[in-house]
Amino acid sequence: MSTAAPILLTPGPLTTSARTRQAMMVDWGSWDDRFNQLTASLCEQLLAIVDGAASHHCVPLQGSGTFAVEAAIGTLVPRDGKVLVLINGAYGKRLAKICQVLGRDFSTFETAEDEPTTAADVDRLLQADAAITHVALIHCETSTGILNPLPEIAQVVAGHGKRLIIDAMSSFGALPIDARQVPFDALIAASGKCLEGVPGMGFVFARKEALAAAAGNSHSLAMDLHDQHSYMVKTGQWRFTPPTHVVAALHEALLQYTEEGGLPARHQRYADNCQALLDGMTQLGLRSFLPEAIQAPIIVTFHAPKDPRYQFKEFYERVKAKGFILYPGKLTQVETFRVGCIGHVDPAGMRAAVQAIAEVLREMEVLDI
Ligand SMILES: Cc1ncc(COP(=O)(O)O)c(C=O)c1O
Repeated sequence: MSTAAPILLTPGPLTTSARTRQAMMVDWGSWDDRFNQLTASLCEQLLAIVDGAASHHCVPLQGSGTFAVEAAIGTLVPRDGKVLVLINGAYGKRLAKICQVLGRDFSTFETAEDEPTTAADVDRLLQADAAITHVALIHCETSTGILNPLPEIAQVVAGHGKRLIIDAMSSFGALPIDARQVPFDALIAASGKCLEGVPGMGFVFARKEALAAAAGNSHSLAMDLHDQHSYMVKTGQWRFTPPTHVVAALHEALLQYTEEGGLPARHQRYADNCQALLDGMTQLGLRSFLPEAIQAPIIVTFHAPKDPRYQFKEFYERVKAKGFILYPGKLTQVETFRVGCIGHVDPAGMRAAVQAIAEVLREMEVLDI
């Protein structure tokens, strides 16, 4: 992998391979049989990643990740349902906002941004409120990179006879999730994350019985996953104009995913990227926000240097000029910046990024690290 081209060290859009970008050089008609086969093959491959073919349908949806999250909640939570939203960062807060906007009753449970929600918390909360029908969880909270204990929480939710909705936007494809062992009604992810496609479509793995029972729940025509799925089953086509180039790119990205060795290989590369990043930044004296035990190998939050000569905007521009795009922090209490470990990049690329960061901090005379 070349480090000469600019590398996006951001959690999506992210760096894609030339092969994936090349796949977008074809114009597809939405009625074209071959395009419909591409969609069907995509859904089949996506479901296989979670071993979900027997239990779940894959419903693709046009738009960014949030569109798919909103569609999942709007479709699968009945209008008289109640959602317990587990929050330890900005994307958890967004889940609550979605429930509020859609008029679904909800309660929230919020822990600090460096504190995972525990299964014991969920157990206690479900015991205390029998009205809760669904629990919504962010698997990897991308605003910090914290990993929440999905399998344990899923067991507790199922033990209470409740439904689980998982936003696995930044973890799906890299962190293992097995639908045969982790019960869920919906798992949501998108094209432009760990599968290394381009942004433009999300997808929801919806439990077959839950989707079948969801007719009429949705507040919205375009966001109705039950309708989207029924139409696709009937016609083989997307209900409304499909993101053809995004689908083609994701299909090509999935071929490369398989060639690389599927999820274990993708996970290993990202873990190696994350380790190379942490090792290099530690040597520079930069501290990561999360302890390693709860750090997902997706994105790392670093404390910003305290030196007044450090300004994120200048730091960002200078690192960008050296070929790497960083990400601002998303914490309100402490000043941070983030570096993604995902995308078409390897540990050598991460070491080159650390080298660029070191040079920039020297140029800016930021010395207190
Ligand atoms: C955990 C999580 N949920 C939801 C989203 C929202 O996705 P989008 O910005 O594509 O709408 C993201 C985006 O990075 C995410 O990381």
